Amino acid sequence: MMFATTIMALVGLSALPMALAGVAPLPKGLSVRTEASLPYPLGVMTVTGTVGGHEIQLNGTIQDVYAQVKKAHPDFDAGALVNAHKLAIREDEDGLVGRNKIQPGLCCPFAGQNWNWADAGRIQEGVQYLDHVQALCGVGPRSCVRVSCSWRSAIYLCNDNDYGITPNCGYIGSYASDLINQCVLYNPIGQGYVCGQEFDTDRYNVIVREDSC
Ligand SMILES: *[C@@H]1O[C@H](CO)[C@@H](O)[C@H](O)[C@H]1NC(C)=O
Repeated sequence: MMFATTIMALVGLSALPMALAGVAPLPKGLSVRTEASLPYPLGVMTVTGTVGGHEIQLNGTIQDVYAQVKKAHPDFDAGALVNAHKLAIREDEDGLVGRNKIQPGLCCPFAGQNWNWADAGRIQEGVQYLDHVQALCGVGPRSCVRVSCSWRSAIYLCNDNDYGITPNCGYIGSYASDLINQCVLYNPIGQGYVCGQEFDTDRYNVIVREDSC
């Protein structure tokens, strides 16, 4: 219930009708390839930058990265980090407003995939983790990586380019936030669920959906 309350507060009830729009048209020139359940083979994300003042170069989901930092620096306090930086990050985000985002994102269900819905509260937690690193999140050529995954709820970054890319981790999180705002649906007891995909004109996209982690 705590997460449901958080999400309600974050997105408000006005987001609901958007999710009922159903099948949205694909952005021109981009396609969703879903031979498997993801557009591309799944690789491992690289994360380069700083977390809580510690310089890092690590691989894995953002949860894996936080766990590795905690292991190397036992005094690392993810909770304190997330709280302390909240205001600063909000300001940063204004500077990250997505000029290249193709909006709105696509909300499930849409043509070519059968993804299941993720817990919006868990996705929001992943976004908070991404918001509180100063780092680049890397994905190889024509592949997808799990950016965040917890409690069967995942954020993926998929790269359509023939070369690797390293967008800002917080910026990738902002796509997941967009999808929560645009796609969230609530069950009868007020728990939020999210599932969708948002593209960028730089030929990558972010997927939010259920996953086994
Ligand atoms: C992370 O992955 C990169 C290439 O994907 C590899 O070169 C590097 O050794 C890996 N680093 C760690 C710490 O596993």
